Amino acid sequence: MFAESARPARRSLTNRVALAALIAAVLLSVTSCNRNDDGRIVIKFPHIVAPATPKGQGAELIRKLVEERLGDRVVVEVYPSGQLMNEDDALEALAFGEIQMIAPSLSKFDRLTRKYQVFDLPFLFRDMAEVEAFQQSPAGQELLGVLSRKGFLGLAYWHNGMKQFGGPKPIRTPADGKGLKFRIMESDVLQEQILAMDGNPQKMAFGEVYQALQTGAIDAQENTWSNNYSQKFFEVQEYFAETNHGYLGYLLAVNPGFWNKLPEDIRLELEQIVREVTGEVNAIAEAMNLEDRQKILDSGRSQIELISAEDLAAWREVMRPVWAQFADEIGPEIMAATPAGSDY
Ligand code: LMR
Repeated sequence: MFAESARPARRSLTNRVALAALIAAVLLSVTSCNRNDDGRIVIKFPHIVAPATPKGQGAELIRKLVEERLGDRVVVEVYPSGQLMNEDDALEALAFGEIQMIAPSLSKFDRLTRKYQVFDLPFLFRDMAEVEAFQQSPAGQELLGVLSRKGFLGLAYWHNGMKQFGGPKPIRTPADGKGLKFRIMESDVLQEQILAMDGNPQKMAFGEVYQALQTGAIDAQENTWSNNYSQKFFEVQEYFAETNHGYLGYLLAVNPGFWNKLPEDIRLELEQIVREVTGEVNAIAEAMNLEDRQKILDSGRSQIELISAEDLAAWREVMRPVWAQFADEIGPEIMAATPAGSDY
């Protein structure tokens, strides 16, 4: 569909996703089930991470359970590692009904809703228990459906985990990031987070990060242990700082037109499968981030720096103004359900 590389092109690409979402809203009523030659309903589920990651395993588990329980009527086709399309294209393709299931990180819906920016606010959620409590709150559950009129119905949140900074030197304090070029996802909050440390944010597709680190096009990046390991970022980053500064999670989403036109018994079974797999993915994510952190240590290729309580306080102080910058757009009722409450 499109190449995903230079920054201006990517910006207009994201605008295209927003436009596609608007058009999709008009098309919702006509989107129907996509069927194979043998009459089975096809659910195409492309994603950009490796099959062994939490999201990769979740997609595969959905495929397997659907085969076991609905195999004569539904087939799920999983395309990992960006082999079918990149994520911008996947957002557009889902809105148009060309594919049926996606799970991009919440940060990547930035141009479609300001509300998901809450998930990117740095140092807002101290750990995964706080993320989970917010997502299960009435405000968090309401957010799942906030994009349904634009062609994306959220079925569940899938966790990856907390992000860490990787760089050519230990980024223990915000001052350590000064002047470094950081790859970030397509998110204005993440951009402001890097600017708050006087760094230079570069929005870039996931698939380009390894090479950009290798060639020095970027100096630093943020990601979870499972992505830092599976993408081999530890081979081209000498240091990681265990900042746990932000959340990386996914919206498992379908096209609402497609979903609502499914025969009811199939939809109910799929909803049950999604519930089971969501629990499984979240457990896998927790275990895998711990294991992959250890594998990075064992590789001897990069060092992991811990953050002292004093440095943590410095991070929080520098990053807190970013909350206030976005709180109005996110909405006070959503902020109120986060650990910040009304204190931002
Ligand atoms: C990233 O772009 O860093 C993440 O969204 C990748 C992913 O899907 O885990």
